[in-house]
Amino acid sequence: MQHITILGIESSCDETSASIIKNGRVLSNFIANQDIHEKYGGVVPELASRAHQSNIVPVIKMAIDQAAIKIEDIDAIAYTAGPGLIGALMVGSSFAKGLAISLNKPLIEAHHMKAHVLAHFIEEEGKSLPSLPFLCLTVSGGHTQIVMVDEPLSQKVIGTTIDDAAGEAFDKAAKILGLPYPGGPLIDEYAQRGDPYKFKFPISDIADLNFSFSGLKTAVLYFVRDNIKVNPKFVGENLNDICASIQHTIVETLLLKFEKAIEQTGVKSVGIAGGVSANSLLRNRMLELNKKGCDVFVPKFEFCTDNAAMIAIYGHYMYLEKQFGNLSTAPQARMGY
Ligand code: KG4
Ligand code: ZN
Repeated sequence: MQHITILGIESSCDETSASIIKNGRVLSNFIANQDIHEKYGGVVPELASRAHQSNIVPVIKMAIDQAAIKIEDIDAIAYTAGPGLIGALMVGSSFAKGLAISLNKPLIEAHHMKAHVLAHFIEEEGKSLPSLPFLCLTVSGGHTQIVMVDEPLSQKVIGTTIDDAAGEAFDKAAKILGLPYPGGPLIDEYAQRGDPYKFKFPISDIADLNFSFSGLKTAVLYFVRDNIKVNPKFVGENLNDICASIQHTIVETLLLKFEKAIEQTGVKSVGIAGGVSANSLLRNRMLELNKKGCDVFVPKFEFCTDNAAMIAIYGHYMYLEKQFGNLSTAPQARMGY
């Protein structure tokens, strides 16, 4: 049997991460978060690049040490080539290239969004991989996509947001409520104790399998503005119910289109990916699709938000196909599917 050991490097946004995957299984997946952005209410690109620069060497060292391998054991180095923040991507790509030259190993360019989907193809004890074709709802801070996966490396977007991403909707709503960045996990937390039907926000239903979340942001803004005119303490006194109502609206907007996609395509092997797939309501609502005859895949929390294990598994599949990158490729902030 051919043994394949891949080092994955992720630096597209505000997480510096490195992972070792051997024969499709995770040996290590080390993630360094950047708290610096919290006080600015969003990711500051310049600060993200600097933090990646400080973190990248120790993070890669940790991933190699935890995996208990020698750096020479790596067969290829996969790094996120885009989409993402250009300065942040350049840190990971430059490091990957330097390492590839010094070890004389091939480079693999990973597509960040396709890699989120491929997190489902990481091998784990007692877990079966999704059967193909596989329909995936990828929901992150920058993207909201329904993806048809014919093969791990053959993916097609069949629905997308025309404005804000689902994670952005969570974060912007949280910001209006005065919560720090990233607000998605906090809305999830407060919502646990709230009534999702207390306040009504619009569930958008635009054409085809596409999404729109900008109307929700405006609705939350006017709702808060109007209510604090009457009661300045309105947000604090109703935070749990407001969060539960916003979360319910976002999740139902996602499910409306995803269920339509299942119906239209007839694909019953389905899953969620990306940072918002850590959301507890979305996970529960997805698992309910089991009752409708679907085989539902919900990722482990460590593979939901940005991580290098998903980059390494992408590298694993690219390695099998011998799709190697080259030293003169520049990372791209925007990258087609
Ligand atoms: O995939 P990801 O880590 O980074 C991007 O590629 O964008 O996704 C980050 C997004 C943020 O918008 C964050 O608020 C959201 O995922 N997120 C959540 C939860 N955990 C992370 N949104 C709702 N509920 C959560 N539990
Ligand atoms: Zn991501």
